[in-house]
Parts: sequence; C-alpha cells; structure tokens
Amino acid sequence: MADSTRESRRRVIVLGTGGTIAGRAASVGDNIGYTAGQMGVTQLLEGIEAPAGVVLHTEQVAQVDSKNMSFAIWRRLAERCAHWLAEPDVVGLVLTHGTDTLEETAFFLQSVLAPAKPIVLTCAMRPATALTPDGPQNVRDAIAVAASVGARGVVAVCAGAVHGAFDVQKVHTYRVDAFGSGDAGPVAYVEEGALRELRQWPFLPAEQARLAFERMTLAARWPRVEILLSHAEADGGIVDALVAQRQAGAPGAVQGLVLAATGNGTLHEALEAAALRAQAAGIAVVRATRCMQGRILPTPDATLRDAGALTPVKARIALVLELMATEAGGA
Ligand code: SIN
Repeated sequence: MADSTRESRRRVIVLGTGGTIAGRAASVGDNIGYTAGQMGVTQLLEGIEAPAGVVLHTEQVAQVDSKNMSFAIWRRLAERCAHWLAEPDVVGLVLTHGTDTLEETAFFLQSVLAPAKPIVLTCAMRPATALTPDGPQNVRDAIAVAASVGARGVVAVCAGAVHGAFDVQKVHTYRVDAFGSGDAGPVAYVEEGALRELRQWPFLPAEQARLAFERMTLAARWPRVEILLSHAEADGGIVDALVAQRQAGAPGAVQGLVLAATGNGTLHEALEAAALRAQAAGIAVVRATRCMQGRILPTPDATLRDAGALTPVKARIALVLELMATEAGGA
C-alpha cells in the first residue's frame, strides 16, 4: 500500500515514467494495440503488498512511451533519484519504465549516479489492461530487489531476472522474458521475493559518477551524438553531410558519432574513410559492435577507437557524457 509519510524506517520509492506497464488497450485480449503511459504509478501498485517492514512511496516523474525518451526526462529522473537516495530511510528505488529504451536509461543512471543503494528499473511487455499482465509481478519483484540488503547499483528486473545496467539489453520484441545480459548473464534471479545472487552487483567509481552528474546538471545543452550503421553498400554520405553541417556552423551540429560496426568493430571502407574525415574535422568518433553479444577486441591497426563491450546506444550515452566532460574542461 502506498504511503506518503516520511517517518517510516525503511522506505522504497517507486518512480513512474510511463511505458507499456502503464499502458491501456481497448480490449483485454489486445497485447499490442495499446497506448503506453496511461496509468499513474500509484495505480500500478494497487494490490501489491510491500515486503515486511517496508513502506512504499510513489512519485510520477514522467508519463511517456519510452521510445520518446529525452535528455530532459533523464536529467529530471537523475535529479529525483539523487534526491531520494540521499534520504537515510530510503533503502532503494524502483522505476517503472517502458521496455524500449530501458537499457539506455539504466546505463545513463548508472553512469551519473553509481548508487550504493539499488535503483531497480522494471517494465512490462503487456499493457496493464491485458488478461494476464506481466507488470504486477515485475513490480513486486523489483520492490523485493530494491528492499534487499546487499543489492546495489542500477539494475533491471524483468521476468524474474536481475540484469546489470552495463549488460542489459532488450532482446525480444514480444515475449514477456524480453531482456538479456549477453555473455555476462544476469546478476541474480528473484524467486518468491528472495534473491538468488549469481555474480557481483554493478560497480562504478562513485567519484566519476559524481562529476558526470554535476556536468549533466550544469550543461546548457547536451552534446549531439548520432549513431550510424555500417552495412552493405554503406557510402559514408550521411557522415559527410553531418561534417558539412558542422563546418557551416549550424546550431546543434553533431559533435560525436557512434558507428554501429560489423563483427569485431569493422566498417565498410567508404564509411570508414568518411569517419576518418569526420574525426579530422573535430568530431569524436567511436566504433561499437552491432553484434548482440561479445565485445570489440582491440587491434593494433585501428584508426578509430572502440567502445569495447558497449552496445551502440550505450556507447552513445558514454560519448555524450565524455563530450560534456571535454566541454567542461575535465577528463
Ligand atoms: C515503451 O517502451 O514505453 C513502450 C513499449 C514497452 O514498454 O514495452
């Protein structure tokens, strides 16, 4: 049951951002023709009991279909998370979120908060109005994780698995078990409200995150970083157009490029040539593999740096934060 008092000893704060988990369809049999982000977060907790000794408190931070996620929402979310994490009686946070960009939000929050307490993103593949919605069990599991002693960092909970922010990826378009952690595997499973831990919880030096958080809140405009895919017949024309826009001094011109590369970070030769021209023109260029699993292993002849195990969408966030640091004159 939701409670808005501040006196409780162990609180879990549930922050709503929208998504299918808060979605409504016209009929109970419709799992795909719905509108995301329709129900408030307090409504999502109806019928869900808090673990013993834990009091739940809700806050609606946004109400969007997560495909439309924005820097403005990320910034507000990070600020609200920081606010709640600083409260001594708050043991953890739960974020209800759409599945489509959940991995981006998780990676972003881990990069700017690196919390010692858990921030648990959860979601649903079926709308709240479905005959058998998956949201309520996911929320229940997420609250159990957020209240667990020893849980830390930003994780995602879906279909009973706990995935670390650096590894989590949406891997299925329809199944309720829609997330994976690639080679790393899940951090833990949630079974009847108890954690079965498999490996270390996500870790990032807190000082690095603190600086990233500060720059993020101070930046008047976040750097524009685009993702371009290497594929058969890729000719680099879009890269050249972006460079030309920048050289013409267009407002909001691109500052960074992530190239979603084939295999071990390779690029179509025409795209690579254009990327080198972009790099020479002052645009930060990074390669990330478009493969679902594995990482880019460094090769001595590489002319463009790589993002290691980061997927293109996460490499983009890392580059946005890195460019903010450069602009602020930091490392
Ligand atoms: C969204 O990402 O907000 C819509 C899709 C989903 O939550 O599954």
